[in-house]
Amino acid sequence: MCGIIGIVGNSSVVDRLVDGLRRMEYRGYDSAGICTINDGKLIRRRAEGKLKNLVEELANNPAPGEIGIAHTRWATHGAPTTSNAHPHATDHVALVHNGIIENYKDLRAELRDKGRTLESDTDSEVVAHLVSIEVENGACPENAVAQVLPRLRGAFALAIVFRSHPDKIIGARRGSPLVVGYGSGEMYLGSDALALAPLTQKITYLEEGDWVVVERGGVIIHDESGNVVEREIQTSGASAAAVEKGNYRHFMQKEIFEQPTVVAQTLSSYLRQADNSVALPQFDFDISSVRRVTIVACGTSYYAGMVAKYWFEQFARVPVDIDVASEFRYREPVLEEGGLALFISQSGETADTLAALRHCKENGQTIGAVVNVPTSSMAREADLLLPTHAGPEIGVASTKAFTCQLAVLAALAAHMAVKKGLMSREEEQRVVAHLLEAPACLNKALDHDDDIASMAHLIAPARDVLYLGRGPDFPLALEGALKLKEISYIHAEGYASGEMKHGPIALIDDAVPVIVLAPSGPLFEKSISNMEEVRARGGQVVLISDAKGLAEAGEGCIATIEMPEVHPLIAPLVYAIPVQLLAYHVACVKGTDVDQPRNLAKSVTVE
Ligand code: F6R
Repeated sequence: MCGIIGIVGNSSVVDRLVDGLRRMEYRGYDSAGICTINDGKLIRRRAEGKLKNLVEELANNPAPGEIGIAHTRWATHGAPTTSNAHPHATDHVALVHNGIIENYKDLRAELRDKGRTLESDTDSEVVAHLVSIEVENGACPENAVAQVLPRLRGAFALAIVFRSHPDKIIGARRGSPLVVGYGSGEMYLGSDALALAPLTQKITYLEEGDWVVVERGGVIIHDESGNVVEREIQTSGASAAAVEKGNYRHFMQKEIFEQPTVVAQTLSSYLRQADNSVALPQFDFDISSVRRVTIVACGTSYYAGMVAKYWFEQFARVPVDIDVASEFRYREPVLEEGGLALFISQSGETADTLAALRHCKENGQTIGAVVNVPTSSMAREADLLLPTHAGPEIGVASTKAFTCQLAVLAALAAHMAVKKGLMSREEEQRVVAHLLEAPACLNKALDHDDDIASMAHLIAPARDVLYLGRGPDFPLALEGALKLKEISYIHAEGYASGEMKHGPIALIDDAVPVIVLAPSGPLFEKSISNMEEVRARGGQVVLISDAKGLAEAGEGCIATIEMPEVHPLIAPLVYAIPVQLLAYHVACVKGTDVDQPRNLAKSVTVE
């Protein structure tokens, strides 16, 4: 996913554009670029790599002007070089694009046949040329864009400036988010409200297919058919401070430490503390009639779904199918009329998950969305919106969104069980009481930050690391491995503890640390037997358990991490903390870029 911003201003825009890019750098950081209009000229500056390289470029070659667009890129088509960096431009227009133009090959061929020279390997540049051709043939900017948009297939958010019209930016949205911001005598466009947070809180979320003419005094919004439409102006809750690290070294670290607060915040909108009951939003949907739940998500959100499968099946006795979104539609899933399909996503914009959501909608499923961005596409297309209240998550590696997803999913599973008559009032009170203990237990888990930091050097030199867990802690093993891979670049695998002996145990030697997640409880003995199988083969074990578990099985491990003793229901939330902290501290020892790991972007809006 890329980030785009545009300002039709009444003073110099360059610094504000760069600040907007800084707030969106988590969306992609392969290259960055800017284009202003000054003295009837398009002034374009671009740089490969992180935003700081563009800032250096601008220090040497300033970009004056009171109107401009800017872009931070996560490369899809074309290597992350300067020539592939946005904005793409002709003599007449410049544009920035987030998304993928699927028919770009045909359009490139057509442009080449017309004798146009394309400078980049991107799919985006074709749009600049198509709009430019219309302008060169005498079309006004509005007509030029209206002619070209129907020719584009795929997903896009676009912002386009026109050399001869230094008073307007045209934006368009199909499949990728775009918001309009209202200033005083100025107007803005951005990929999200966070990018515009220091500029304005007054925003409009464009609808699918909308395109918009942005001028200093206001905007004209057109729908996909070209009709002028009104869209609501909302007050955004995005605060500029949410995109600051405060006293923390990294966003990821800040977000790990925010978990007790944001999980409590999330739980408070799903549970009633006064009488320990589940209190979900009122839905116009009979949840007791659900006979099958389909869960679809990607990455960390998928692992939250895996944990939830245990809860739905255990509490509500309802079968759960779970898929990674990129596979879901292609296996031609059997979806019975009237099923509940749940989509879990921090961003609410992940293209694979969104496509799966639409597929389920077309196939008669009721759509539930557990999302952290309440204005996202998934939130808007869902029948049942179940927001997490994690606040903006900027670190590319997801942390607090995960534990908040777990909080919502546990409450939903209990709610379904209550509605189905499968959970008595006393059981409901017990479950709610355990969930309400989670924030305090997360705090206790965070108290072990220093211990984890001091053992990170044991893991940092490893080439491979294994994570083991059983039951609902198995997805935590997968999550631990994902966190380590993505931010420390160490190869890691998560396995169900009992599955080790069926093959992966062949990997064990004294160079492969094995992280065992084993809270004391019903599965403890079996987990420890599996751990012993590893140790018997020279495996170097790090045991994560509570005091009781460590007393029983901690001897002989290369390190142990103590967690508070918790009810098994909340163990997946609490054990998320040590796996996140371990990955974080190992990455710090290795000196990798924790918040912006290589090759990644915060949310992936391409399939
Ligand atoms: C891992 C991570 C990714 C995301 C995945 C889904 O730390 O962040 O695996 O979980 O890309 O993103 P969302 O939740 O936005 O749909």
